Amino acid sequence: MTYDVKEVRAHFPALESGDVFFDGPGGTQVPREAIEAVNQYYTYANANFHGAFITSRRTDKTTLEARYAVADFLNAHSEKEIVFGPNMTTLTFNLSRAIGRILSPGDEIIVSRLDHDANIAPWLALQETGAVIRWIDFHHEDCTLDMASFEKCLGPKTKIVAVGYASNLFGTVNAVSRIIEAAHQAGATTFIDAVHYAPHAPIDVQAIDCDFLACSAYKFFGPHVGVLYGKYDHLDRLQVYKVRPSGEMPPDKFETGTQNFEGQAGTTATLNLLAWIGEKYAADFSEQFKPFEGRRLNLKTAMAAIEFYEMDLFSLLMEGFREVSGMKIFGVTDPTRFKDRVPTVAFRVNGHTPREIAERMAAENIYVWDGHCYALEPVKRLGLEKKGGVVRVGLSLYNTKEEVNRLISALKRITG
Ligand SMILES: Cc1ncc(COP(=O)(O)O)c(C=O)c1O
Repeated sequence: MTYDVKEVRAHFPALESGDVFFDGPGGTQVPREAIEAVNQYYTYANANFHGAFITSRRTDKTTLEARYAVADFLNAHSEKEIVFGPNMTTLTFNLSRAIGRILSPGDEIIVSRLDHDANIAPWLALQETGAVIRWIDFHHEDCTLDMASFEKCLGPKTKIVAVGYASNLFGTVNAVSRIIEAAHQAGATTFIDAVHYAPHAPIDVQAIDCDFLACSAYKFFGPHVGVLYGKYDHLDRLQVYKVRPSGEMPPDKFETGTQNFEGQAGTTATLNLLAWIGEKYAADFSEQFKPFEGRRLNLKTAMAAIEFYEMDLFSLLMEGFREVSGMKIFGVTDPTRFKDRVPTVAFRVNGHTPREIAERMAAENIYVWDGHCYALEPVKRLGLEKKGGVVRVGLSLYNTKEEVNRLISALKRITG
């Protein structure tokens, strides 16, 4: 059975408004199942953790279930490799601070100019410890990572390579497996920001062999919860900043302070819904995910089916853009290279500021982002920081052809 967007949309109450949500890269809508799980948590399990009484025990169970669900989603070796936190940015700052303790002055950290600032600023902060930052550039003509520049940065002093899986502005997918392999050969540890990739395609941390990977549940249809995956040995070895009573072992030692338990409950429910999508519509994709089984398999096939559906929709969007005059698109536009991107696109329109376009869209109940979208470095690099940045349109698993056509018609009206 093929992906049925109408049936999937019925799970998302926010879509009943009829408004068009192309703002997914800033946060996606949440299915009824996750909203209900949060409700259930507050009703039957609301307590702090590790107590003797039933609500506290249910809270412990909520966290454990969420760890198992996210481990399935990312194909982590163990649920103990899954750390929760308020968001990816905070988790990354906590991690970089812990890593800073084992760096020596002159050690090098590689970051990319294509990235969201949450995968740059936490590493720049380590300059305080004497670390040296090396920058990977990107090709301005198609907003892809300059691999030659990466290879030039990599050397015997490289200790950390921090790159994005996909750009939250241009949709570019980076060759993370290749980067990780080269980094490991140089003896470096790798950190992958998968926030923008996670809602669009399957992730397999064991296959890409990253040391750390971060994502955010609210970008893949869950509540506002951040997720950090780390290979167990790395998590174990690092000395984190924490209160003394917090657990000493991973993942607990990384989760200092009270967690968003209701958000964890919602995250599990969201992942179960994605697994349902896999089970219902994506059997055709199961061949490529042998020997996965159960929810792990269903999550992989779901994401493969979602990727297929979204990229079809994205082709329609890009065809429509060709009919709009005065558009400048940033990123990969050649359809034969769409496998190197996710369905997020940045553009500008001659004679209109990005904010003006976003406001005109909002007036037609079409939600798009404008500005730098925290991808400050690439926007600066393209000389667009003082010009209002770009308009960003992001397609998600619940968007439709009709919505894409609405966007194109609105753009044509604006440009005359
Ligand atoms: C690629 C990317 N990385 C990191 C972040 C930061 O995530 P969080 O809001 O969970 O801190 C975002 C959020 O937009 C993002 O798109």
